Amino acid sequence: MANHGVASVLAVAALLLVAVSTFPAGVHSIGVCNGVLGNNLPSPADVVKLYRSKGITAMRIYAPERKVLRALSGTGIGLLMDVPNENITAFASSPSAAAAWVKANVQPYPGVSFRYIAVGNEIMDVDAQKNILPAMKNLDAALAAAGRGGIKVSTSLRFDVFTNTYPPSSGVFADDEFMDPIAEYLESTGAPLLANVYPYFAYVGDTTNIHLDYATFQPGTTVTDDGNGLKYTSLFDAMVDSIYAALEDSGRPGVKVVVSETGWPSSGSFAATAQNARTYNQNLINHVGGGTPKRPGLLETYMFAMFNENLKTGDETERHFGLFNPDKSPVYTLSF
Ligand SMILES: *[C@@H]1O[C@H](CO)[C@@H](O)[C@H](O)[C@H]1NC(C)=O
Repeated sequence: MANHGVASVLAVAALLLVAVSTFPAGVHSIGVCNGVLGNNLPSPADVVKLYRSKGITAMRIYAPERKVLRALSGTGIGLLMDVPNENITAFASSPSAAAAWVKANVQPYPGVSFRYIAVGNEIMDVDAQKNILPAMKNLDAALAAAGRGGIKVSTSLRFDVFTNTYPPSSGVFADDEFMDPIAEYLESTGAPLLANVYPYFAYVGDTTNIHLDYATFQPGTTVTDDGNGLKYTSLFDAMVDSIYAALEDSGRPGVKVVVSETGWPSSGSFAATAQNARTYNQNLINHVGGGTPKRPGLLETYMFAMFNENLKTGDETERHFGLFNPDKSPVYTLSF
């Protein structure tokens, strides 16, 4: 009987392994960014309910929003939370400003599953970039002092900080002086590098050389990287692996990448259709559990964004990245 019992347990374990490797792995690596630049969006409590009803297990927010934090409490939804760009100068020069922020925005929420804090999003100004690393250090110290040292501190980067990204193995940092110390610091703390990766913008910027099928994870184009012989069937993988190549070039191959934004607009410009957006995002969901050619295994990824945001400025497409309309109806069907 005992042996039979063990065999049953092993059989169940084997079945679970198969199940985990074919389906839920993808689910656990997908989050959705919760932007709030709209005047018609659901209440934070309703937004969190929608995440739960769709089985979305992680969220990114761009500022410490009290009502969202309260609604997230006890849900187990993993959270990536930004320090807004305008606060970084103060954090860089003042450990007590960072400590006050942790006291106001992290300590009151023991029930929130904080994963990462991003010190700034897509900061490209060279002078402002100088404040990122000192602010990260002050925030790390403040979190440790508050007993929340398990929360990893990083910064969310625009893909433009990487260059020579094709073929992927030739990827390097565009500005070593800015990025080398950040990569070194991330390696020392075990925090991931956060990067916003948009095959959509790469595709619309170069439709001569990039095929729509390659940009949307569809069969058709396969690219072999002559630098290392790896085969790429999607632009997303090629972009992510160029980030890993840049980290390797910088001597920090152990730093993990988390994709802190990716998405495809459903309207507003060339190639921005619900059909293409659905294809990209559904294939993304199905794909990221398996990682990239250079780094097989789970790739944690945050989709941009939960809702169409009517107050976003810039190109028309900016207001059409949402997976859901403000009335919570899906813009197109997706299965998470
Ligand atoms: C963050 O920046 C905003 C806007 O400048 C300001 O109102 C707020 O006081 C700052 N918060 C901290 C903690 O520095």
